[in-house]
Amino acid sequence: MQQLAVNEELARRVVAALRRAFGIEMAPAGALVAVSTRDGVDYQCNLAMSLGKQLARPPREVAAEITAHLDLSDVAETPEIAGPGFLNFVLRREWLEQRLAGLAGDDRLGVAPAEAPRRIALDYSSPNVAKEMHVGHLRSTVLGDAIARLLRFAGHEVLPHNHLGDWGTPFGMLIEHLLDEPPAGHRGIGDLNAFYQAARRKFDSDEKFATRSRERVVQLQGGDPETLATWQELVDESTRHFNEVYRQLGVTLTDADIYGESFYNPSLAKVVDELEAEQLTEISDGAVCVFPEGFHNREGDRFPLIVRKRDGGYGYAATDLATAKYWTAERRATDLLYVVGAPQSQHFAMLFAVCRAAGWLDGVHAEHIGFGSVLGEDGKVMRTRAGETTKLADLLDEAVSQAAGIVAERSELGADEQRTVARAVGIGAVKYADLSGDRERDYVFAWDRMLAKDGNTSVYLQYAHARIESILAKASDRGERAPVQLAEPAERALALTLLRFGEAVRAAVSAYAPHKLCTYLYDTAVTFSRFYEQCPVLAAETTELRASRIQLAALTSRTLVLGLGLLGIEAPRRL
Ligand code: ARG
Repeated sequence: MQQLAVNEELARRVVAALRRAFGIEMAPAGALVAVSTRDGVDYQCNLAMSLGKQLARPPREVAAEITAHLDLSDVAETPEIAGPGFLNFVLRREWLEQRLAGLAGDDRLGVAPAEAPRRIALDYSSPNVAKEMHVGHLRSTVLGDAIARLLRFAGHEVLPHNHLGDWGTPFGMLIEHLLDEPPAGHRGIGDLNAFYQAARRKFDSDEKFATRSRERVVQLQGGDPETLATWQELVDESTRHFNEVYRQLGVTLTDADIYGESFYNPSLAKVVDELEAEQLTEISDGAVCVFPEGFHNREGDRFPLIVRKRDGGYGYAATDLATAKYWTAERRATDLLYVVGAPQSQHFAMLFAVCRAAGWLDGVHAEHIGFGSVLGEDGKVMRTRAGETTKLADLLDEAVSQAAGIVAERSELGADEQRTVARAVGIGAVKYADLSGDRERDYVFAWDRMLAKDGNTSVYLQYAHARIESILAKASDRGERAPVQLAEPAERALALTLLRFGEAVRAAVSAYAPHKLCTYLYDTAVTFSRFYEQCPVLAAETTELRASRIQLAALTSRTLVLGLGLLGIEAPRRL
C-alpha cells in the first residue's frame, strides 16, 4: 500500500486535532505543515498564527490546544511550541526506519497516483513550419516534456499536442518560392531560415512575386490540390527538422501529437458563428472582434481578440479559439495547458476570458504555463554571431561535443560508452538549464555554468549517481532488503530527504514547476555526499550497519534516477 508523504501524514493528524479541539473542518493542505529549517526540528506547522487571529486567541494558546488533541505518538515526539506559536515536529526514529522499509519495495518511491485523475491537453513545443526552431521553442519543448512526464507519473492522462504554425498568409510566398526554386535531388530545403528569408526578400522586392503569393494564399485556402501538395512538402520537410531535434533531445513527442494550426482550419467559421450566436462579437474596423471584459489600456480603450480579419481571413486568435473548443468539446479534456513563452500571456488571458464567456470552459481548468526568455551571456535574447537566432540542432551538437570533452578528462570508459555518456551529459545539461530555474524568469545560457561539475547542475547529479553506483557495484549484497538503522545524524538527514521525494514531485506537479524537483534532487545529492563523508558504507563497523547504509545508498540512487527521468534526463551508471 502507498504511504502518505510525511508532510501529508502530519497535516492529516493536525487537521484531525483541529476538528477535535475547535470543531473546525479543514483540508490537510491548509494545515501549513512544511519541512523546517531549524536545527533539530524536522517539520513545522505554522497554522496557530493565522488560526489565532481567526479565533481571536493568542496563537501559543491555540498551538497548545492543537497539541493537546494531537494523536501523533506513533509518528513523532510531542511537538514543542516555539516562538509565536510554531509547532515543531521531531519524527521518531522507528517510524522513519519503517517508512524507508516501505520505499525499498516501491517502484514509485512513495508517490501515490492521483485519486482523481485528470485528462490534460498539453500544448508544447509548437514551432513554426519553414522556420528553424529557436531557443524559445527549445524551452517550451523541454519544459513541456518534463511537465508531461510529471503529470503522467502523477497518474493523469496527458494529451500532448504540438500546435505547429503551419497555416496562414506566409505560406503563399513560401509555396511560390519552393515552386520557383525546387531543391535539387533529394537534398531537401536544408536551411529553413535561409529559405524563409529568401522568400521574404522576394516578396518585399518583387511586385509580381508578391501578387502571385497572394493568389497562392487564396488557392491554399480554397483547397487547390497542387497547392496543398506543395504546402505538404514544406510541412513534411520542417517536421523532419523538428523530429531531428526531438530525437536529439529524447523528448516523447511524435508525429501523432501534431495538431497544427491547419488542423483547425475547417472549424474556424463555425467557431465565429458560435461566438456571434452568443452575441459576444462586435464589428470593429471591419473585423469581427470579441472584447473580453477587463482588457484595456490606461486610456480605457478596450483590447480586441480578433476572430475574423477584415479581409475575411482568420488568424492566430481564431485558431486558438477553435483549439480550445476542440480539446474540450471533442476530446473531453478537463485541463487545457499551454507551455508558451511569457510574451503571449495577454493573448492567453484574453483567449481564456472569451472561451469562458462562451461557456466552453465550464468545469475546465485552463492555464498558460508561461516561461522567461533564454538570454545570451550579453544579457540579450540569445542569437548567434551572424545575428540570426541560434539554430537548435547546432546548439545541441555543441552541447554534446563540450560534454564529450568533460567526460574524456577522467573517464576510463571505452570510446563507445563515452559517446553515449557524452550525449546524456550534454543534452542533460541543456535541459536542466531550462528546467532548474523558476520557469517564469529569464535565464542566461552559459556553457560553463550549465556544464559545471559542482552546484545545481545535471552533471553534478549524474556524477553523484554514478559515484553511488560505483559504491554499490562493489557490494554484492545490494539487492537484499536489510533493515535500515538511523543512528547517525547524517543517516537521519539522508532518510528525511529520501522520504521527501513524493512531496517534491507533488509540489512540481501542482505548480507545473519542474524546478522544484530539480532543487530537491540537488538537496538529495548534497545530503548524500555529507552522509558519505561521515558514514563509511562498505567499511561500516558491523555487517548490519553496512547493509543498512547500502540500502540508503541504493535508495538514493533510485531517487536520482527516477527524479531525473521525470525531467527527461538520463542517468548513466558509469561516467
Ligand atoms: N507557434 C507559436 C510560436 O512560435 C506558438 C504556439 C503556441 N500554442 C498556441 N496554441 N498558441 O510562437
